[in-house]
Amino acid sequence: MRIDIITVLPELLKSPFEASILKRAIEANLVEVHFHNLRDYTTDNYKSIDDTQFGGGAGMVMMVEPIDKCISKLKEARNYDEVIYMTPDGETLNQSIANQVSLKENIIILCGHYKGVDQRVRDLFITKEISIGDYVLSGGELGAAVLCDAVIRLIPGVLGNETSALTDSFQDNLLAPPIYTKPRNYKGLEVPEVLLSGHAANIERWREDQAYQRTKDRRPDLLDK
Ligand code: ADE
Repeated sequence: MRIDIITVLPELLKSPFEASILKRAIEANLVEVHFHNLRDYTTDNYKSIDDTQFGGGAGMVMMVEPIDKCISKLKEARNYDEVIYMTPDGETLNQSIANQVSLKENIIILCGHYKGVDQRVRDLFITKEISIGDYVLSGGELGAAVLCDAVIRLIPGVLGNETSALTDSFQDNLLAPPIYTKPRNYKGLEVPEVLLSGHAANIERWREDQAYQRTKDRRPDLLDK
């Protein structure tokens, strides 16, 4: 998979890709991540990427031209399956969207800033709009990092144990069951007996029951899906 991220703040975005699972995925060539500074696609001396709104109103708007130049240049080199715009009014990111995006070959992620982008950017280039939640961030960069993390860990080979992404919370619309490691007793709190039993079928049944119960208690909305 190849991910091209268009941003005015590449330095804000780089560090999540320089540690742990994302770093290893890149080193193992399971994913390529490229950052493109939108200011490199400006035409004026001030490297302007935004301007005031037509019709008046507070806040600057990202102009269509630098974004067009950047996306068009990328598209000259290869086809893209998806051009994603990070925006609070997009579809709220969930596991199902992450699963879908993880199956793509080449994607572009555009990070918004200020009030957002000129509507014509959305009309001309964007194929998917994603929000990471009902709150407004200062820009799309942190959202893009969240999306990339959720997506990259699903690429086959990225996680050590191939099955571990399949047992995450939200796969099958269930939260994950409680988990334990050593010691067996900590300050009087015991690991549930069944997990020590070595009885695979009972352990599986216990985990399913716990996952169901936790989902019912915390996120009953998931059970309606
Ligand atoms: N940009 C600003 N707020 C955002 C959000 N909630 N999700 C994605 N991108 C954003």
